This record gives sequence, C-alpha cells and structure tokens, in this order.
Amino acid sequence: MRIVVKPSRSQQPSTSFLNSGVPEKRLLKGTLGLGFILMVFLVVIPLVVIILGGHQSPLPIWLREVGVWARGGLEDNFVTSKGPKDKLLGGLLPAGFHEESCLSRYQSASYRKASSHLLSHYLLRRLRKYEALHRRCGPNTALYNKTLEQLKKRCNNETAECNYVLWIPFSGLGNRMLTLASAFLYTLLTNRVLLIHTDASMNDLFCEPFPHTSWLVPSDFPMKGFPKFSSNSPRCYGKMLRRKASANNSDDVVKQRLPAYAYLHLFHDYDDFDMHFFCEDDQKFLQNIPWLVIGSDNYFAPSLFSIPSYEEELSRLFPKRDTVFHHLGRYLFHPTNTVWGMITRFYQAYLAKAKERVGIQIRIFNRGSPFMNILDQILACSLREN
Ligand SMILES: *[C@@H]1O[C@H](CO)[C@@H](O)[C@H](O)[C@H]1NC(C)=O
Ligand SMILES: *[C@@H]1O[C@H](CO)[C@@H](O)[C@H](O)[C@H]1NC(C)=O
Ligand SMILES: *[C@@H]1O[C@H](CO)[C@@H](O)[C@H](O)[C@H]1NC(C)=O
Repeated sequence: MRIVVKPSRSQQPSTSFLNSGVPEKRLLKGTLGLGFILMVFLVVIPLVVIILGGHQSPLPIWLREVGVWARGGLEDNFVTSKGPKDKLLGGLLPAGFHEESCLSRYQSASYRKASSHLLSHYLLRRLRKYEALHRRCGPNTALYNKTLEQLKKRCNNETAECNYVLWIPFSGLGNRMLTLASAFLYTLLTNRVLLIHTDASMNDLFCEPFPHTSWLVPSDFPMKGFPKFSSNSPRCYGKMLRRKASANNSDDVVKQRLPAYAYLHLFHDYDDFDMHFFCEDDQKFLQNIPWLVIGSDNYFAPSLFSIPSYEEELSRLFPKRDTVFHHLGRYLFHPTNTVWGMITRFYQAYLAKAKERVGIQIRIFNRGSPFMNILDQILACSLREN
C-alpha cells in the first residue's frame, strides 16, 4: 500500500513532493494550500457524510436515518444513470456549457465510481427551473437592478420579483462547500437566486455552475459592511430579535421597519436568536426581505428539513435525505481548468495505480504540535493496521 499525505500549508515540510511536481502552485493565491484543495476533491467529498457525523449540526439525528422518505412509487420517479459515457450525469448537469470551458464538469465522473444514489426527476426539473430564474435575475439584469434599487435606497416597500441569497465565505474549503450547498438548497426552497462573494483564496477555484449567467456578486456591490458581518452587526437577524426581546416591546419592532437586507448568522456557536432562522414563523417573515446574506461554517441543510413549510418540497427533491450533498455537490462544484489540471496530474502521479485508496483527513488544532511526528505516527499506524 502506498500512502500519500499532504500536510496543510502552515505545516508544510520543505521536501513537499508537490513543490517539485506542480509548478503552477503559485496560481492559487491565498490561504488554501493546493494539497488541501486536492484532498477535498479527491478524498473529502466522498467522505463528507462520514465527517459530518462529528459536527455540531443542529439536527444530527437525521444523518443516521438512512430511510427512504418518499411517499409512493419510487422507481418511476428516479433517473437511472447510463454509466460513464453519460456526461450530464443523468441530467443532473445542465446542457448549454462549452465543454472546454470547464473540463472537470464532464470528466470528473470518470474518476469516480458511478453514483449509486437515485436522482429524482423532480430535482432535475427544479434545477432547470432554477437555472432559468438565475438567468433572469442574475447580476446586471434589469430585474437585478430593480431589486438592487431597494438596497441602494434602503427601503423595502415593494415586493421584488427577484430575491437573493448572498453567500459569504468562512472557514476552510470543506466548510465552504458544505455551507454553499446548504445555501443553494435554501435558495431552491425559497425561489431565491444564489450569489456568492469569493475571497482571494477562492477566486478561480470553481467554474460557474449555472449556464449563461454568473453567480458572482459584482465587485461594486453596494451593501453597507458587505462582505464582513458578525452576530453583532445591526442587520444580523439574531441581533434584531435580541434587540426586540430586550426592548420589551409588545408591538413588533422588527416588522415595523422591514429592512432591505438581513444577515443570517448560522455558525456552530450561534445562539437561540440566530437559530430562529429555522423556525416556520421566522421563515415567513424573512420571505419579505429581498436580500439575505448567509454566513456559516456549518452544514445547515439538515436543519432545513425541520421547517414544516419546506417538508413536502424537500421530500420531492430528495426522497433520500442523506443524498442532498451528494447530488448538489456534483451539480455545483467543478474545479476550473487550471485546478483540474493539477488534480488530474496529481491523480496520475500518485493515485491512479493504487489498488486501493484510503483517505485520511489530518487535523491538528494545536499549532505548536510537531507535524512530522504526528504524520509518522499516523503512517506507521496505518501501515501496521493495513
Ligand atoms: C443594470 O445596471 C448596471 C450598472 O448600473 C448596468 O451596467 C446594466 O446595463 C443594467 N442592466 C440593465 C438591463 O439595465
Ligand atoms: C418606495 O420608496 C422609494 C424611496 O422612498 C420610492 O422612491 C418609491 O416610489 C417607493 N415605492 C412604492 C411602491 O411606494
Ligand atoms: C416587560 O416589561 C413588563 C413591565 O414593565 C414586565 O412586567 C415584564 O416582565 C417585562 N418582560 C420582559 C421579557 O422583560
């Protein structure tokens, strides 16, 4: 057995094999080391559900339920995969992209086992509908400009035709992919449009997932404070509720002045007020706010299943609840050609000939710990235990 381990950037030993083999490393500026990115694409994605088990998700129980949740005849509702030649993954991916512009979209499936998870026809229909909505409401369209007016004038006095979820990045790449998939699920459930803000470490990492439009927030986006928010920001939804509670006011302070945007603080350390996001009444209220900013380090998709008004839609989209990230991940995350080149070269050099591949995610929280010692221990133990 051959074990390939790549430490994260801060603990990188000088003899890193990647430095010699992959000169393009400099292309990935910022804090996410190449090794980590490769690890996420090659290893972490398949393992993600397992890793999640250890996370502090508000509703971890459902992960253990691998039951079928559909009502009625399953087989008719699902797409069957046509094997590795099926470039659009049974219709999960949209047609209408130039293949060369994002090779990984069409090639990555051939590096993986065929998906054993059924894909509902309903999900495919909803994705196509979403893509059409995103084209209509995407950045710099007339409808986008119209909703943007409300933000600029700081008023929310008319119903917008296009409403948005703005995702802002936090934490490492793995967390980002999980929260981004969760935010996308939320936009599907609320008929909103997902726009993302990327920072230096994420620029040019992923291809655009929706054809003929963009999911990137324009750089001159006029929201005050964007993209930096915290649980203490005045427009933080939890903070608004906290203020309302302490004001001890019988009439609804929040409702009196409907803001043009709100920030949803969905971090692992969020309090009861922030968690109100997952309550039915709060969801009804949030419907009236055209711009919702989501900041999270948490895979919050499971908690959306606890909101009664989304229950039916979710059961149609994902009759098997534990496949949400599997399908949305394959739909959303496609490394750009530069990154894909690195991934495939890494694969050819280190993984292609291996009979068996085992992913080990090493996380060291105490920065002072001697990384090489820990690495040696892990390798020795892995080899000993086969
Ligand atoms: C929306 O606004 C932007 C920036 O002001 C402008 O460039 C663009 O043409 C507008 N779009 C439409 C369809 O009017
Ligand atoms: C909403 O408020 C803005 C700014 O005060 C104003 O220009 C606009 O006409 C108002 N729209 C409606 C429907 O009242
Ligand atoms: C609100 O104020 C009333 C009267 O001043 C008081 O009796 C009540 O306990 C207060 N409630 C909270 C939640 O602070």
